[in-house]
Amino acid sequence: MTNSDWTASTSPQQQNLRALAEKTLINNDLGGYTVPTHGLYPFQWNWDSAITALGWMQFDEQRAWQELEILFSGQWPDGMVPHILFHKDSDSYFPGPVVWGADKPIKSTSISQPPVVGSVMKIMLEQAKDPHFAREKATTLFNKLVDYHLWWYQQRDPEETGLVVTYHPWESGMDNSPAWDDALQAVPCVTWSYERRDTKHVDSAQRPHKSEYDRFLYLVDFFKQHQFDSKRIFAQCPYKMNDIGIIAILHRASKDLLIMSEMLQMQDERTEYIAKRMEVTQQAISALWCEKDHYFYSRNVLTNQLVAVKTSAGLLSLYAGFASATQKTSLNKTSIEWLQASQFSLASTHPSASCYEPQRYWRGPIWLHINWMIALGLEESGYQDTAKSIQNDSRELIKLAGFYEYFNPETGAGCGGKDFSWTAAIAMHWLL
Ligand code: GLC
Repeated sequence: MTNSDWTASTSPQQQNLRALAEKTLINNDLGGYTVPTHGLYPFQWNWDSAITALGWMQFDEQRAWQELEILFSGQWPDGMVPHILFHKDSDSYFPGPVVWGADKPIKSTSISQPPVVGSVMKIMLEQAKDPHFAREKATTLFNKLVDYHLWWYQQRDPEETGLVVTYHPWESGMDNSPAWDDALQAVPCVTWSYERRDTKHVDSAQRPHKSEYDRFLYLVDFFKQHQFDSKRIFAQCPYKMNDIGIIAILHRASKDLLIMSEMLQMQDERTEYIAKRMEVTQQAISALWCEKDHYFYSRNVLTNQLVAVKTSAGLLSLYAGFASATQKTSLNKTSIEWLQASQFSLASTHPSASCYEPQRYWRGPIWLHINWMIALGLEESGYQDTAKSIQNDSRELIKLAGFYEYFNPETGAGCGGKDFSWTAAIAMHWLL
């Protein structure tokens, strides 16, 4: 079937996939929030939930808004929306709430995740079949969203450099990206022993190594020992990253927040402040551009070095709207060449990089929600053909393998967890 056949008609295969995608979300629903997949990830994850709401939106608008309401129910008093909310106990995941040690009404981790939720809310408001209901829900959530963005700007960039910092690879959402390798080396290992649960669900060849896990856990302990105090952690954290992925997603979501503030007539001095902080970011972003490689990289704040590994996070600069006309041209060229470098696209690490591993978690595999964001950025920058290629590959992957957590760019095989919520949701929102 050619792509035009696929989009022109609603084929039986498409109907079938669509029904399966709905079923995936329904099966992963734990009563108002959706787990990414049972077993491997048995709680509510921040950016998973946001992306998943886009899927619910296609067949149950009320349920979609409920997903976000429950996500914001775990917001900390300082505005932070945690990366995981441990609503119910489960021993299939490690590290759980006791290790994190955050004493909050809803148990949670003490870090956040890419703040895509603002962009999702704007899409939900625009696409609602019941605009009255959507407006009412968005109005109730809007101030919490503003608090969340203010938390990023004020707690994670207290010196107003324009570039927020992240304190843990898990905060980036791209947990095991090779971009974090060097910075992670400077973090000590935990000395206590622990039992991992992830490798009980998924082949260890697709998961991080123990040496990385030891350091991930050291940071978890560090936050607890510093009583989650933003100032102390900012001053002393042994891992501090200007993650281009988070910076881009935050910038885009702030833009969408400002558009929503007009739609809902909720502009005030707080939204004006966000607009000012966005200007500072736009000024500062050139510090992450490498003129030699024509690419946006993350930066290790502690060494002040750009991390010269081409990961898909750099392409999110288009989604954020950061790139100048010449930067856009180079990024489109790089994307085309990246697409040609593997059978399916877009590999999370460039296939020509020495650290590329097509099967291992964020070191090569394809994630469909990242594809969606990159394609959107390319399309908005005028590169429809490149965007279409990414969309076609994404569709091909779900036809071949179903709704897996991630996919091998060489073979198209599904990897990680199966029946995965955000993959099913993006399929409904973007592909089917
Ligand atoms: C992994 C991913 C992270 C995601 C979580 C749940 O930890 O790296 O981005 O949020 O799984 O799907």
